[in-house]
This record gives sequence, structure tokens and C-alpha cells, in this order.
Amino acid sequence: MRVLITGGPTHEYLDPVRCLTNPSTGRMGMALARAAAKRGHRTVLVTGPTIFPDPKGVRVVRVVSALDMDRAVRREFPICDVVIGSAAVSDYRPESAAASKIKKGPAMMTLRLLKNPDVLGGCGARKGKRLLVGFALETDCGLENAADKMRRKRLDLIVLNGPESFGANRIGPTLLTPDGKRRAFGAMTKDRLAAKIVVFVEGLRR
Ligand code: C5P
Repeated sequence: MRVLITGGPTHEYLDPVRCLTNPSTGRMGMALARAAAKRGHRTVLVTGPTIFPDPKGVRVVRVVSALDMDRAVRREFPICDVVIGSAAVSDYRPESAAASKIKKGPAMMTLRLLKNPDVLGGCGARKGKRLLVGFALETDCGLENAADKMRRKRLDLIVLNGPESFGANRIGPTLLTPDGKRRAFGAMTKDRLAAKIVVFVEGLRR
């Protein structure tokens, strides 16, 4: 299979030295890319800023913002069979970025934000025969939100997890599929979950 994976956070700059982001480290995307390559799939990883080096046998495209990630994914999408979206893409970006560092000033400032494209949602809209996997990191009503996302983004599998997964080596995921099945797992390594997801997708392709 030709597998396209997204991972990591995005950085949405408001001036040359400050950005909006989240605690994602890119670990899950790296684990997925390693697992896919290890099982012999042609693998591309589009990742936001991360300290992790390129996994062996993977073509890595490094991006910064949600707009960059969307552009890179649109470029790779036509030549892939599977998309696994594990990136924690910022839903909003500053309306504009200042050319120079914003100086300390008034006691209150307002930051206007614009909605970013939904990278995986865009893949869902142009899905064709491809298989799509997404992640949902929720603080409340996890099962309902994950099931809703799966439907909206036309996913074949969604992995529900909580904020404790950020940067951690282990994850306690619940896997949901469009047939209404769900399976909760105890804590497992991200490498183990990555292998499970790749094997699951292989099964759907058969
Ligand atoms: O809608 P929400 O962000 O909660 O959905 C999570 C899933 O959607 C993840 O798989 C994430 O990678 C993807 N996503 C995306 N682009 C966004 C927001 C989320 O690809 N702008």
C-alpha cells in the first residue's frame, strides 16, 4: 500500500518568535510511519515540528503550519491508498502575522483568529477508494465526539484517546469503526498501537 501519515503539532506564528501550538510531540506519527515501512508499505510522513529524526525507509515532509500541512497532504493525496491522520492540527491561526516581534504594551490585547482547513476532513471529502484513519483526543463525551468525527470525515477507523497521550510513550486507546463496534484497550506503547492500526488497514484492503 502507499500510506500517507500526518503527525506532530502545527505552529501558527503571530510574529517571528511566537506561535499558537499544542503539546503534541510527533511521537505517534513517527511510530505509525515506522510500523508502515516495516511492513513493506511505501510510506510518506507529513509531520509538524518535532525533535524526532526521520524514520528509516520513510519519505518525510516537514511542515510548520496547518496551511503548510494541508498543501503537503493535498500534493501527496492523489498517489496514496491509505491516510492515517494523527497530527494535532491547530483549528485556528492568527489572522495575520506581524513582521517584527510584538512589543509589550497595553494590559489587554485581542488576537483575531481564522479557521484553518481540516486536513483529514479534506481527504474524506475526496476519499474515492482510499482508507482513512483518524485520531480523536477528547476531554469530554469522547465516544460521542469520536463517532461523530468518524462520520463527518468519512473515516474507516478512529482512535479515541485523552490528553495524557501527548508526548507519552504509552496510550490507552479506544478503537471505533463505522459498523458501531468499539474496543477499549489498556495502556500499550505507541509502537504497538501503530502496528495494530497498520494490520487493521491491511485487513480492510483484502
Ligand atoms: O476535528 P478534530 O480536530 O477533533 O479531529 C481529529 C482528527 O482530525 C485527527 O485525526 C486530526 O489529525 C485531524 N485534523 C486534521 N486537520 C484539522 C483538525 C484535525 O487533519 N484542522
